[in-house]
Amino acid sequence: EADLESKLPLRGKKILITAGPTYEAIDPVRFIGNHSSGKMGFDIAQSAANLGATVVLISGPTHCKIQSSLVQLIPVVSAQEMYDACHQYYADVDVAIAAAAVADYRPKNVSSQKIKKSADDFTIELEKTKDILASLGEFKKKQFLIGFALETENEIENAKAKIQKKNLDLIVLNSLQDQGAGFGKTTNKVTFIDSSFHIKAMELKSKEAVADDILNKVIAHFYG
Ligand code: CTP
Ligand code: CA
Repeated sequence: EADLESKLPLRGKKILITAGPTYEAIDPVRFIGNHSSGKMGFDIAQSAANLGATVVLISGPTHCKIQSSLVQLIPVVSAQEMYDACHQYYADVDVAIAAAAVADYRPKNVSSQKIKKSADDFTIELEKTKDILASLGEFKKKQFLIGFALETENEIENAKAKIQKKNLDLIVLNSLQDQGAGFGKTTNKVTFIDSSFHIKAMELKSKEAVADDILNKVIAHFYG
């Protein structure tokens, strides 16, 4: 029905969303992580479900909760687990949005026993994790692919480089410089850059409102 259709413009669309941090084990009781709360990704999942989309939400450790029959939550811990889960669902989705703060490095060797303190100095050797978003860009077929970028300098240039390197359709640039934006906050200030390098700076607003802005870009892609 036309009325229902206009209220639920993403009905029948499948969206994969990554959220939260990843934890990279050092030993059985310790890990390397980051301050991502997961809120941005969960707000995107909620907005997508509100618009009628079916959502696979692949999230690292978080206190965020979501209650929707349209959202399937896949909890993961490490970057490798998030990578595997993403590729399990990716071929089947119409849109993928990478909002997770994935660890760039992980301990090269994970101790099977708790590491005991001994010497005054202690060094952990790290190796790169897989870039999940870049791999989604590499295997992209029909998917509308959205990434985030967190930059503290040369923001626009660095974000443009990420669009090309990861084969994205849209990037959401996070401004940490603005007070009230970023990790642990309820507000966010973002700039959208598309694959033609059209730039749109948005106002500081709630993460729920930023999520709605992102889903409006998705709707515009299908029906704009
Ligand atoms: N990303 C990812 N897998 C990684 C690292 C990042 O999927 N191993 C995704 C993030 O979810 C985000 C985008 O890539 O959507 C950009 O993340 P960001 O940390 O800003 O960029 P990096 O490519 O990791 O580069 P750098 O941290 O050096 O700026
Ligand atoms: Ca990174």
